[in-house]
Amino acid sequence: GKGLAVFTSGGDSQGMNAAVRSVVRMGIYLGCKVYFIREGYQGMVDGGDNIEEANWSSVSSIIHKGGTIIGSARCMDFIKREGRLSAAYNLVTRGITNLVVIGGDGSLTGANLFRQEWSSLLDELLQNNRITKDQREKYKFLHIAGMVGSIDNDFCGTDMTIGTDSALHRIIEAIDAIVSTAYSHQRTFIMEVMGRHCGFLAVFTALSTDATYNFICEEPAPPNWDKKLCEKIKEERKSGQRLNIIIVAEGAIDREGKPITAELVKKVVVENLQQDTRITVLGHVQRGGSPSAFDRILGCRMGAEAVMALMEATPETEPCVVTLDGNQAVRLPLMECVRRTKAVAQAMADKNWDLAVQLRGRS
Ligand code: F6P
Repeated sequence: GKGLAVFTSGGDSQGMNAAVRSVVRMGIYLGCKVYFIREGYQGMVDGGDNIEEANWSSVSSIIHKGGTIIGSARCMDFIKREGRLSAAYNLVTRGITNLVVIGGDGSLTGANLFRQEWSSLLDELLQNNRITKDQREKYKFLHIAGMVGSIDNDFCGTDMTIGTDSALHRIIEAIDAIVSTAYSHQRTFIMEVMGRHCGFLAVFTALSTDATYNFICEEPAPPNWDKKLCEKIKEERKSGQRLNIIIVAEGAIDREGKPITAELVKKVVVENLQQDTRITVLGHVQRGGSPSAFDRILGCRMGAEAVMALMEATPETEPCVVTLDGNQAVRLPLMECVRRTKAVAQAMADKNWDLAVQLRGRS
């Protein structure tokens, strides 16, 4: 059977295990020899025990677990050609020419570069007598399928990345707990949520927790944000509300691009309203714990589709990323999605927030 390997790379997210499980089982079902690559690209570079054949039962009892059982890492060695040469050697000598990568845009870009270089890497290995002519010929094509695992929902081309729904569940559960104590003491709570440069988690959290105010980076706070915030809080308290929840995305900024931090918001509330105010930074709790049903199913669907894409690939097939579009699993050109995702980052760096929001949309 064909050699196929799966690995997880970059920050972990809930639902990655469901995706790994699905890749392994679909691969075996379709007659492949399936391998785990542990610790992301680092495991591919280091080889040895990091690349291990998987069987049907190696992925039993993992669908309910957060994180990734095969480990993940941000790898510096793979950035160097030397590292990629070693990775190519480790794959060819095991007969692996199909890769499923589960990660963010950086990890997917790395996979694309690897595939572009594949031929020249094999040539170099052959020249150095590390592989045989037969191996050079037999494994001359590398096929790649990606899936996006991230709690940030920051990738263009998909409605939801694997992990976002679970992170939202975790955040909302925490805020519901905070609300009960805030109510008792009539306090204002400032909650910092993750998302890197994407306000998706913050906006969905604010909408589903009845928050008073929300700071994100795609819609930077106007110069008089402090007054507006205090007026809103005062108004809500006057109408009988006993507490306020303010959501601050970790990348939140004002129109000059200066960070809006939880500390800064607290200072504004305390100085202007003399309110009893506390900060809760949710941190990595958001990325941990058991995946939601949605993320389990999403991982399963994406994993199966990724394997099918690889099995149908011809030498000309470009690397794809499997995404969700209107509840359909679809295959999109990997680099086009990465390019769009990078264009969003560029638009934000240029302070062109309208363009960033527009580019992030599906159309
Ligand atoms: O991309 C996922 C994410 O959790 C972001 O929301 C956050 O900014 C970052 O990763 C945290 O990275 P680390 O786990 O390296 O601290």
